[in-house]
Amino acid sequence: MKATPPQRRRGPRVAVLALVLCSLLVPLAILFDHASSSGDDVTTDERRRQEVVLPSIDRVVRRDPVIRLPVGGGVRQDAPKKISNGSSGVLPQPKQIDRRPSPSSTKPKVLPVPRTEPPKAVMEPNRQEVANDRKRRDRGAKADEVENAKACQLEFGSYCLWSTEHKVMMKDSIVKKLKDQLFVARSYYPSIAKLEGQEALSQEMKQNIQDHERILSASAVDADLPSFINKRILEMEHTIARAKSCTVDCHNVDKKLLQILDMTEDEAHFHMKQSAFLYNLGAQTLPKTHHCFSMRLTLEYFKSSSLNSDVSSAHKFNTPNHKHYVILSKNVLAASVVINSTVINSKDPGNNVFHILTDAQNFYGMKYWFARNSYKKSALHVINYEETILEKLPKHSMREMYLPEEFRVLIRDTEQLTEKARMEYLSLFSHSHFFIPEIFKDLKKVIVLDDDVVIQRDLSFLWNLNMGDKVNGAVQFCGVRLGQVRNLLGKTKYDPKSCAWMSGVNVINLEKWRKHKVTENYLQLLKQVKRTDEASLRAAAFPLSLLSFRHLIYPLDVNLTLSGLGYDYGIEQEVAWSYASLHYNGNMKPWLELGIPDYRKYWRRYLTREDQFMDECNVNP
Ligand SMILES: *[C@@H]1O[C@H](CO)[C@@H](O)[C@H](O)[C@H]1NC(C)=O
Ligand SMILES: *[C@@H]1O[C@H](CO)[C@@H](O)[C@H](O)[C@H]1NC(C)=O
Ligand SMILES: *[C@@H]1O[C@H](CO)[C@@H](O)[C@H](O)[C@H]1NC(C)=O
Repeated sequence: MKATPPQRRRGPRVAVLALVLCSLLVPLAILFDHASSSGDDVTTDERRRQEVVLPSIDRVVRRDPVIRLPVGGGVRQDAPKKISNGSSGVLPQPKQIDRRPSPSSTKPKVLPVPRTEPPKAVMEPNRQEVANDRKRRDRGAKADEVENAKACQLEFGSYCLWSTEHKVMMKDSIVKKLKDQLFVARSYYPSIAKLEGQEALSQEMKQNIQDHERILSASAVDADLPSFINKRILEMEHTIARAKSCTVDCHNVDKKLLQILDMTEDEAHFHMKQSAFLYNLGAQTLPKTHHCFSMRLTLEYFKSSSLNSDVSSAHKFNTPNHKHYVILSKNVLAASVVINSTVINSKDPGNNVFHILTDAQNFYGMKYWFARNSYKKSALHVINYEETILEKLPKHSMREMYLPEEFRVLIRDTEQLTEKARMEYLSLFSHSHFFIPEIFKDLKKVIVLDDDVVIQRDLSFLWNLNMGDKVNGAVQFCGVRLGQVRNLLGKTKYDPKSCAWMSGVNVINLEKWRKHKVTENYLQLLKQVKRTDEASLRAAAFPLSLLSFRHLIYPLDVNLTLSGLGYDYGIEQEVAWSYASLHYNGNMKPWLELGIPDYRKYWRRYLTREDQFMDECNVNP
């Protein structure tokens, strides 16, 4: 194909685009190099979004030997075993997990499955199940399953909630049958191979085992299976029947079975790990389409000569008598949905001002998007967080913008060893939130919205709240009390009975914030935190958020926000509609493929349908 003359504007658009994009990317890369400290420039927008696992014994508990708290070696060790011996098809909602004391943490590691069943069960292929497959068969909310679910979440977090849901939908009954057969055949094979005069049967078994293995290696669900599979199943059945009719040394079969079970368990755990990794990758990385979209907007920003829309409403940005909302976001569509849902349900949208704090990488794309789209006369203010911090707080070393931090934390009763334990999911302010009063020096009150929130009602009433001397109006979360996480909070004094709280929708009185010197206190606490790497720095947001606002939380109506739409599969539709806002905290954000399908509709309602760039990039969350 001949090259398009550069002066011809209507050349093949794609080629031109690619060229412009390339030429743009290089300077952009240089420009933003300082911003991405890790140097890892994949589609990073969501990278920091993942649940931070709290607490880990190495990092936290060591300091406080009295509290032999959470992720103790016992549970960690047992977790894999328990997962494979039967995390259930029905997972309980995390909040109801603590029903039974955990027997596992005190027991030594054992081979769980075989001992619970008489050896003769082995002889019946239909009752024989590879440990891993047991899950789906005995549904019913047994206490065991609750335990297993807990152990799984302890190790893999919300992946477990996701994976059980997805397994239920998977059509794999034939695959399971193959695995069962393979399992039985493998346990018989060594005994048969030793028998005199059974060379032919031995050979046949070997062949069948290999065939099964080959098929299973390429098939995860029934749809993957080859057409001749029924023939193979019959052949294997036949072979197994013949093996059973031989007088084999039962002891040997049992022993072999135990070994195989052990191996299968490890294998199952390995697959679990692998899948959990992929799941987390899915939660961290923005889909390619979104990346395309974001780049496309950036590109358009530089192509368009005049985008001075800011000017018309700029006078509103600093006037305290407007309703100011602050959103930290690196995702255009997420920010758009929060804003759109707020204004559509707002009785007085013209009075709203939205300040979108974003990083350098997404700044221009955001600017372009919010200049092109209107939100019922609301004023939109896109701010480059990194640049602003550099400008206003040149001495501060932490310039990177962090999205609200999400944590999962194991709560255990510390008094006895037979604790109740449960996993709780929390979202809190990140380090970046503590500079909001610095960035908005002229404002007195703001509402901070997380970008994974959807507003479903008018929020005017929040502006009339009298919070007294309190700084942060937040929905409390009494599933976690400060005393229960004292090993994470250090030596600072606080009321152990006070509840944790959630980010999502927070009413912030900036005047009181300044009066109580919350930022200064935060910086003081930050000095005491050991931050060896990015992960520990982010984990530190947990104690710092909770401690900085101790005694300064004004509890909002619990009916204001429904949390958990990013991990909890059990939320009924009527319940969801009844809340003023929904919070998709958890890994399964509605814009990701992982998103919980039933909950997407609440989010998608507020997404624009006709956008040229969304179409071009095939963005269709
Ligand atoms: C799982 O293993 C434990 C022993 O570790 C056993 O008591 C329990 O019955 C097993 N659960 C199932 C569903 O087999
Ligand atoms: C929250 O809503 C439920 C019903 O949906 C109601 O019974 C309860 O009183 C409400 N709580 C508050 C604090 O308004
Ligand atoms: C806001 O939501 C409405 C639907 O509720 C939709 O028609 C509109 O396009 C959305 N606007 C933007 C800018 O996303």
